[in-house]
Formats: sequence, structure tokens, C-alpha cells
Amino acid sequence: MPLDLTSVHMQFPGREIHWLENTGSTMTVAAQLGAAGCPAGTVVVAEEQTAGQGRFGRIWHSERETGLYVSFVLRLSLAEENLRVLAMTLGLAAAEAIARTADIECDLRWPNDVLIGDKKCAGILVAVEQTTFVAGIGINVNQTAFPVELSPIATSLRLATGRPQSREALLVHLIESADSFLRMLETGGKDPVLRMFTRASSYVRGKHVFVEQEGAEIEGVTDGLDESGFLIVRRPDGTRTTIMAGGVRPK
Ligand code: BTN
Repeated sequence: MPLDLTSVHMQFPGREIHWLENTGSTMTVAAQLGAAGCPAGTVVVAEEQTAGQGRFGRIWHSERETGLYVSFVLRLSLAEENLRVLAMTLGLAAAEAIARTADIECDLRWPNDVLIGDKKCAGILVAVEQTTFVAGIGINVNQTAFPVELSPIATSLRLATGRPQSREALLVHLIESADSFLRMLETGGKDPVLRMFTRASSYVRGKHVFVEQEGAEIEGVTDGLDESGFLIVRRPDGTRTTIMAGGVRPK
């Protein structure tokens, strides 16, 4: 069934919320709206994406009327150092929204994957266009199966709980949580985000991981976040490497 946005509009009166039956990517639509001067906080949600964008140029699997595919237009006045933790901030927001909707405790994989157990249920993508940021959040909600290449690594709220979940309730919770975590970042800076992320993520400390970085692979045990939010990995020879970007997976 398509989203019924009545409850969402009632919860956020005056908020620009664009619903699309089908689009290439909500990221593109949100960037266009942002460039045309739409209000901060504008939400773009699609039932289906034919070219959903993931990190590292990957495709985000966007089955029709099944997941939640949302982009926010953000106009944040943030110092550079706080901007770097934007994706982690939204990861915390997505995890909170999932907990409130489906009563599931998620794990967070640095920097911006949301997991149930060891499988991914949501991902965050941030794009910057001058002073406008477009934050995309994809959540697997009611998928009952995934394409063969994704099924070992992906799950949905429905698969995890054994029952369908309301995408409308999840969208309301997601907007509330994103607003509140972004306010926290704007007013309190990165430190509260880093503390919360460290508490919420099993990946930040003591996890044996592989990190893919520009073609090379680093193996080690995670050893916390530095003050900028980068991941520290202790390698088998005892040296510590700071990971500034890259895909992290468990050993
Ligand atoms: C990731 O690779 O983990 C990030 C995935 C982000 C997917 C969302 S779905 C809504 C928005 N539109 C897109 O095309 N991508 C993001």
C-alpha cells in the first residue's frame, strides 16, 4: 500500500513534505528543491527509487512500497568539525526511530550503517551543495526477502520482528528524531554525538574488523573514536591507524 501521509502532515503542520510515487533518487529531487530555495527541513519521500544511491557509488535497493526512502534538505550553521559527524548523528536518529516504531535495539557500524544483529537495516548518505545539505536515509521496513547478493548482509524490520511495520509511524518518528539529534549537534557540537555513538555502537571499541580503504584492506581491532569522530584501529603489529573514511566489516 502507498504511504498515507495524513498523520505525518498532522504531526508536522507547515512542513514541506514531498511524496513521489516513483523517482530516480530522492537525493536528486531534494538537491533540486534545495537549490530552488525550499525551506530548511523539507522532506522528500518516495515509494520507489529506480536509481537509489548508496555509499561508494553503490545502488540502494528500493523495492516499491516496502522500505522508507527519505531525503531531508538541511540548512545547518555548523562548524566544519561538527559537519563531519552529521552522518553519525543521523544514524543515531534512525536507530532511535526504529526503536520507537518496532521496539528493536539497533547496533551502529561506523560511520553510518544501522544494523540489527550483524545485518544492515538502514543506511545514511550525506551530500553537500554549498550551504545546503541533503541527508538521505533508507530503511528496510517491510521487505520479506532481498536479492541474492544482499540477503546475507541485509535485513528489514519486518524480518526482524516477524510482523509488518507502519512506514507512516516510522516516518513520523524519523522526522522527530532527526530534528532532535540535529538540534543537539547544532547546540552542543560533536562531543555529545560522539559519546552517544560510542555507547550505541559495538563497532567503536574492541571489534575485530577489516576496513576497505582506496583499494587496500586494513585488519585490526577498533580502539575508539578520536576527537574528530574518526575510527581508531589497532593493527596486529600494535600500530594504531586513524580511519577517516571507508567500509568497515567484521572479521
Ligand atoms: C548507504 O549506502 O548505506 C546509504 C544508503 C542511503 C539510501 C537512501 S534511500 C533515500 C535516499 N535516496 C537515495 O538515493 N539514497 C538515500
